[in-house]
Amino acid sequence: MKILLLGASGQVGWQLRRSLSVLGEVVALEREGGGDLAKPDELAATVRRVAPQAIVNAAAFTAVDRAEQETALAFAINATACEVLAREAQGAGAWLVHYSTDYVFDGTGTRPWREDDATSPVNAYGRSKLAGEQAIAATCTRHLILRTSWVFDAWGRNFLKTILRAAAQRETLDVVDDQWGAPTRAALVADVTAHVLRQAGAQHAGTYHLAAAGETTWHAYASFAVAQAVAAGATLKASGERIRAVPTSQFPLPARRPANSRLDTSKLRRTFGLALPPWQDGVAAVARELATPT
Ligand SMILES: NC(=O)c1ccc[n+]([C@@H]2O[C@H](COP(=O)([O-])OP(=O)(O)OC[C@H]3O[C@@H](n4cnc5c(N)ncnc54)[C@H](OP(=O)(O)O)[C@@H]3O)[C@@H](O)[C@H]2O)c1
Repeated sequence: MKILLLGASGQVGWQLRRSLSVLGEVVALEREGGGDLAKPDELAATVRRVAPQAIVNAAAFTAVDRAEQETALAFAINATACEVLAREAQGAGAWLVHYSTDYVFDGTGTRPWREDDATSPVNAYGRSKLAGEQAIAATCTRHLILRTSWVFDAWGRNFLKTILRAAAQRETLDVVDDQWGAPTRAALVADVTAHVLRQAGAQHAGTYHLAAAGETTWHAYASFAVAQAVAAGATLKASGERIRAVPTSQFPLPARRPANSRLDTSKLRRTFGLALPPWQDGVAAVARELATPT
């Protein structure tokens, strides 16, 4: 299978280089070299030139707070570009694999969100991602939309790395404890993508929730990550009770965050016969990897 991978330098994209390589030839593009999602004509030309059997789109405008100001750019990348990719994939009879987010939901309640629950994003990023989903579903028959949450890994920018860096520099940390979700390692997202793409038949097209098992808060996640790093030998100033739980209201940010980011992954597990590991597995592995002196 020939695969066009877009966003190859992001957290998920970086891991996809590895996980997709067992499926065949992977043409991995970053922004340069025809992979710029803000340039629709160039993007369409790239798809035609590469002529892939599958497009895997890991590129996105992911700066949630900046999206409130740079809304047009967020929609250009997260929605318009998706429509272009969907049109090209449809014309070529190719699969389009795309990532979306729990931020398409409003975060109310405590039940994990199912794929067919009503969407109602509370910020511009969520609205742009939802518009991308809708454009793909309406345009490309062979599509797989994988909604994930709280992505982290050793490569890229994420909450886990920010917390470990802050814990090394500061005596105390305040972390919110009233938003719930499952930290999901980018490597897990990439590995599941490869499994799904390998098995996918026409009957599998649709939207799936993909997240690690279990649930936690940002505060419990931070405390666990710091404890793992300390156990692996890191010298951190803030750990244990020095990581304090605070409500979201104490952290005003430009974009509202949903309080309930839990995703029900049973459709994905049932359809593709997959098991998803507990979130602690991925966090422990990455926290220890980052803490281990090279
Ligand atoms: N991170 C999360 O917590 C999270 C949660 C739920 C869903 N998701 C979704 O999962 C997917 C992967 O996220 P991620 O965490 O891997 O994101 P990420 O680490 O922020 O990577 C995004 C990638 O998109 C690229 N990109 C941005 N604008 C571009 C453009 N105009 N043209 C081409 N590439 C562009 C970035 O390139 P540069 O480095 O050059 O900017 C970067 O490589 C996204 O669809 C995201 O919405 C993420």
